[in-house]
Amino acid sequence: MNTIYNFSAGPAVLPKEVLQEAASEMLDWHGSGMSVMEMSHRGPEFMSILAQAQADLRELLHVPANYKILFLQGGGLGENAIVPLNLVGRKPQPATVDFIHTGSWSGKSLKEAKKYANVNIAASSESTGFDGVPDPSSWKLSTNAAYVHLCTNETIDGVEYHFVPDVGQQTNGAPLVADMSSHILSRIIDVSKYGVIFGGAQKNIGPAGLTLVIVREDLLGTALPMNVPFFLKDESLNAAFLAAAKERGLLQLKGHKSVGGMRASIYNAMPIEGVQALVAFMRDFAGANG
Ligand SMILES: Cc1ncc(COP(=O)(O)O)c(C=O)c1O
Repeated sequence: MNTIYNFSAGPAVLPKEVLQEAASEMLDWHGSGMSVMEMSHRGPEFMSILAQAQADLRELLHVPANYKILFLQGGGLGENAIVPLNLVGRKPQPATVDFIHTGSWSGKSLKEAKKYANVNIAASSESTGFDGVPDPSSWKLSTNAAYVHLCTNETIDGVEYHFVPDVGQQTNGAPLVADMSSHILSRIIDVSKYGVIFGGAQKNIGPAGLTLVIVREDLLGTALPMNVPFFLKDESLNAAFLAAAKERGLLQLKGHKSVGGMRASIYNAMPIEGVQALVAFMRDFAGANG
């Protein structure tokens, strides 16, 4: 058979040596007697594989110590929701996020972001058929954006950034979020210029099924709160607080028994009026009880 060359945009061709090594370890990974697909995903063998993969990537991309390397699921597309859900809560609501629209993938990302924030399309090359990156001097960035999103390589439209835009000054320090799905690991990047970098593995990294996220540590853990635990200043008023809340039609505010205090869970179906009623009640209660 003639040599086959696989030009797929992903899942893409993998180096023969990598496939051969994986095949040779398939029945017995490093003398463990198990294949990687049979071992505990929390056991020491797999933890060592994970740690090595993170260390290798940190070295290859010169990832600074204040950035975490995450291996997630959900693909690049999943990050279109995960990123806004984690970053817009850092700003007063409703937050604004800035997008540079350079093709299909940044288009998909901004469409998803509209579910969680006001989207400002700071620049777009749509009217010229996505023929390049608009000159950064023309970008209309917001002064208080939660982040600025770019797709640094538009796989479908063939538009690639060959520079890292400096958006900090205009946006009061908004982090740059970059979808690097289709060119990560093809070049040296200055990770420190970005807040979040993400990409599916199936092009330049490995097989499909894994999403790489590199995130600056200070941006972690800022998801919009779903469960809001709180404590009264005077905990002897807990019972009175709960009774008065019930009278106002505000139920189930008692905190989890392992921590005490109060907890308001505000899942998706809680209307904004419910949150407003709770806030008004808390103000009244605070006023009446000093
Ligand atoms: C730039 C870019 N972003 C996102 C995606 C979607 O990635 P996934 O299939 O991992 O969700 C792709 C897929 O080709 C892509 O090229």
